[in-house]
Amino acid sequence: MEAEGIATSAISAFESTFQSLVSGNTGLIPESTISPAPDLVESENFTGDADTSYLSKTVVLKLNGGLGTGMGLDKAKSLLTVKGNDTFLDLTAKQIIEMRKEFGMKVKFMLMNSFSTSEDTLNFFKENYPELAAEDGLEMMQNKVPKLDAETLEPATCATDPSNEWCPPGHGDLYAALEGSGCLDALLKDGYKYMFVSNSDNLGATLDLDILSYFAKADAPFTMECCKRTVNDKKGGHLAKRVTDGQLILRESAMCADEDEEAFQDISKHRFFNTNNLWIRLDKLKEIINASGGFIPLPMIKNKKTVDPKNDSSQKVVQLETAMGAAIECFKGATAIVVPRTRFAPVKKCNDLLLLRSDAYILVNNKPVLNPACGGKAPTMALDSKKYKFVGALEEATEGGIPSLVECEELKVSGLVRMSRGTKFVGKVEIVNNSDEAKFVPCGTVTGKLDLTDAVGA
Ligand code: UTP
Repeated sequence: MEAEGIATSAISAFESTFQSLVSGNTGLIPESTISPAPDLVESENFTGDADTSYLSKTVVLKLNGGLGTGMGLDKAKSLLTVKGNDTFLDLTAKQIIEMRKEFGMKVKFMLMNSFSTSEDTLNFFKENYPELAAEDGLEMMQNKVPKLDAETLEPATCATDPSNEWCPPGHGDLYAALEGSGCLDALLKDGYKYMFVSNSDNLGATLDLDILSYFAKADAPFTMECCKRTVNDKKGGHLAKRVTDGQLILRESAMCADEDEEAFQDISKHRFFNTNNLWIRLDKLKEIINASGGFIPLPMIKNKKTVDPKNDSSQKVVQLETAMGAAIECFKGATAIVVPRTRFAPVKKCNDLLLLRSDAYILVNNKPVLNPACGGKAPTMALDSKKYKFVGALEEATEGGIPSLVECEELKVSGLVRMSRGTKFVGKVEIVNNSDEAKFVPCGTVTGKLDLTDAVGA
């Protein structure tokens, strides 16, 4: 590993997760050891005593190292187009440039890339935003860790493409990457104090001056933006308070024993989830890293995959990851706030991408917001989960353009279809195609159930 030039902080972090794996550490957090998170301050009530002077000490960092494997990608998801010709990264870059103009201040912008996202992302910036590309420290490279054979836990091998032997270690690597790359020291030396981190596929996570001012004035070492859980979120992780010391922690579903499942899913008890929009005090982070031996120990996440993501019959591996938000338990005195759902809009499925690309969302200051014509509620999307798991299939299905969804309440698609910009879905729509061949959805208004099984193939 040393030959790969990996920093000590990253090796220590990997050793720590590997130890968890081999020791059989379950990482379970019993219900009896936590209490529900207390009422949280709501960012919508921040009273407008925003202070622009904090901006010059603030770094905005977008997590851009993931491969978007969930949507069938092996490159940066943020380079997908979302509105017209604009990609996630276009809109993020425009948000930063506009903000700098508005406040006459240079808010520092950074990306955490991985070995799989770096080249494309930097080329994109050089071509489209040369002023940002030319800035010092635009990119911080995250580390890579070896994939492990699922049985022996030895490093996996892939003779056809040795780059498949490595993977990014999850966004929890943020802390090891900041420390190991020397970025953290450089930022502190240049007088930066506050870092706002969010996913590059979450365009709702703009740098909010009210939240920044609140965070700075509260003098907290770490603040997590949370949203209120709804029934749709009951299976995802939640915020909690550790009984022994009152520390805020996250409990993810893998950390919940079967007997606590009911309490875990009780959204009136455990009311908040992590949006992955985090505010970090860089000086405090340095103190914690120093105090804990050069890295932040985070709970291990074990992912079962194959060494070649494109070949299901290749060697079975485990990939060890950590999550950035889990660090809340390491910052004594960390706080959390409630933010509106509009600040949490990550694109995880083709359903999310099609919706964002459609007229149900419009851009306001380079931020996608629900089209007021939708009447306050986005259409419910249910594309065939097998046929439209991957972006490539969605691109094919929408080669003729994106249909109108602004008057749509619910869109259910089963089977292969070809849609076009000439179609307007209205109310509750269900498209069915039970044949193996893709079928055209007609132009004009489409409403109710439409069975295309016997229609002429596309
Ligand atoms: P997620 O883990 O939610 O992943 O990452 P994803 O991008 O949706 O991709 P898959 O489907 O799990 O592969 C949330 C954010 O963290 C970044 C991603 O790029 C995304 O912006 N990330 C994730 C990293 O920067 N590094 C990592 O190692 C993992």
